[in-house]
Amino acid sequence: MKFLMLLLFVFKLHIDGIFGFKKLTNQNIKIKEDKASHATEEWFTQILDHFNPIDPRTWKQRFQTNHQYYNASNGGSVFLFIGTESPIELKIITESAWFDYAKKFGALCFQLEHRYYGKSFPTKDIDDDNMRYLTTQQALADLAQFISEMNKRYKLPADTKWIAFGCSYGANLAAWLRLKYPHLVYGAVCSNAILTAKIDYGEYYEIVSEVLQAYSEECLNAIQKGTSLFNKILLSESGKKEINKKFHLCDPLEQTTYNSKDISNLYHQLARNFAYAVQFYNTNCFGYYDISNIKVDLLCNIMKNKTVGSTLDRLAAVNNMVLFESDENCLEYKYNKMIKSLRNGTIKINQSSDRLWVYQRCTEIVNFPTSSSPPHIFGNGFPVDFYTQQCMDVFGPKFNATFIQSVVDKTNMFYGGFNLKITRAVFIFGSVDPWHPLQIPKTLKSVVYIKGVAHCADMFARSDKDSEELKAAREQISKYISEWLKT
Ligand SMILES: *[C@@H]1O[C@H](CO)[C@@H](O)[C@H](O)[C@H]1NC(C)=O
Ligand SMILES: *[C@@H]1O[C@H](CO)[C@@H](O)[C@H](O)[C@H]1NC(C)=O
Ligand SMILES: *[C@@H]1O[C@H](CO)[C@@H](O)[C@H](O)[C@H]1NC(C)=O
Ligand SMILES: *[C@@H]1O[C@H](CO)[C@@H](O)[C@H](O)[C@H]1NC(C)=O
Ligand SMILES: *[C@@H]1O[C@H](CO)[C@@H](O)[C@H](O)[C@H]1NC(C)=O
Repeated sequence: MKFLMLLLFVFKLHIDGIFGFKKLTNQNIKIKEDKASHATEEWFTQILDHFNPIDPRTWKQRFQTNHQYYNASNGGSVFLFIGTESPIELKIITESAWFDYAKKFGALCFQLEHRYYGKSFPTKDIDDDNMRYLTTQQALADLAQFISEMNKRYKLPADTKWIAFGCSYGANLAAWLRLKYPHLVYGAVCSNAILTAKIDYGEYYEIVSEVLQAYSEECLNAIQKGTSLFNKILLSESGKKEINKKFHLCDPLEQTTYNSKDISNLYHQLARNFAYAVQFYNTNCFGYYDISNIKVDLLCNIMKNKTVGSTLDRLAAVNNMVLFESDENCLEYKYNKMIKSLRNGTIKINQSSDRLWVYQRCTEIVNFPTSSSPPHIFGNGFPVDFYTQQCMDVFGPKFNATFIQSVVDKTNMFYGGFNLKITRAVFIFGSVDPWHPLQIPKTLKSVVYIKGVAHCADMFARSDKDSEELKAAREQISKYISEWLKT
């Protein structure tokens, strides 16, 4: 079942079987090493609750190291890539544009997995009680603890400069780490941070529409027409039958009493088919993600192709292609099925659960990508209530709209939103990333704005297809790092 509330950033789930074993650690855990790239994978003992000094519980957190280019006589800096809401991948610390900076500056490289995701699992399950340790403050304290531990383990000189790097939610953490632990982190490179929390992030689909329009007006119009047809036939019994068949719905529409949350879910699924392609538009993300490799040109070729049928048929063709690519036989849209799966707290280590990110959304991050902003090319079927209701239905009646508003206020109060007061941090935005702020706030002093690329494009592996803008942006980022390391 693929429901999800649009992840910010999704790394590929599979782990390559390329490790040999090597004993290097004082802990009783074997280190895995990718011999070709000098990257190793280890676990270290982490504190469960950083804010309760009398709680002695610990757990094992996963991290990866690459010291291939570490050059202590060249200043000996340390680059830390911050894990996010999905398992960490070695690829980032072995063959990404990010790793090229490490090579250039002779840095020791680490990547730390975020608590609860991937193999870094601090509690026996994720029931409501055990998820209270899933907060950004705990995650930042994990990072701080990790830095202190590595400073000791590697006997790093006291003036060692740690630079934090992150993408998307990881960019938030990089900025916030620099903000809250400036004595541990010297600089932060934040790629597509979403610094301000708000409830209704309608801008998301506004930008998706702009990008599609810029790509092809004809494509945008076909989506809009297809959606209107869909709206219209949804009202009749025969139309519902047609939708069941054309869109391969897992449960027939007419057998349910009309339930607006089911329909909201359906609209959301259809919009997401396009949103993912736009979010990774012109990025070389292949191999870093567990998402399909379906690109905007492919979707728009279908939407523009009259041979496929009516605009509704073309929407269905897009939908069916995405289903096929994700190995799904049919389209799940039943709200109660989704809620049931999100309420399940008996997930164990090595299993992923959308429940985790939904929890973070409902308790700290928010920013729901709703259908509230014009031009509504995917209709207006998933308004903000659709999301706040999910928080309540999954986690209980306490999580109502008033609560969600208080969450937003608290996150912005605690970290400062766009007014966060930090130095030595650079913020990178892709002009076609649906998560970029519509107006880059003046409060952010060092900004690299990359035309024509979407989410986190600067971090992935270099490619022959990289635009001049992207190449120039990487040079600019490199200059920032160079200046920090000089001073
Ligand atoms: C390490 O850095 C020093 C100082 O910049 C430089 O002279 C040396 O060539 C570097 N070593 C390697 C292996 O790159
Ligand atoms: C349009 O769709 C038809 C039928 O699926 C296909 O044979 C044809 O190659 C497509 N044309 C383009 C330009 O993609
Ligand atoms: C919860 O998820 C686990 C692991 O996927 C599964 O074994 C279990 O049956 C689920 N429980 C419910 C009530 O759906
Ligand atoms: C998790 O997966 C790893 C391999 O990917 C395996 O070695 C380990 O035993 C698994 N842990 C559990 C608790 O299933
Ligand atoms: C949310 O619940 C609180 C009590 O927990 C209540 O005071 C508040 O009025 C509720 N808000 C809404 C919008 O229902």
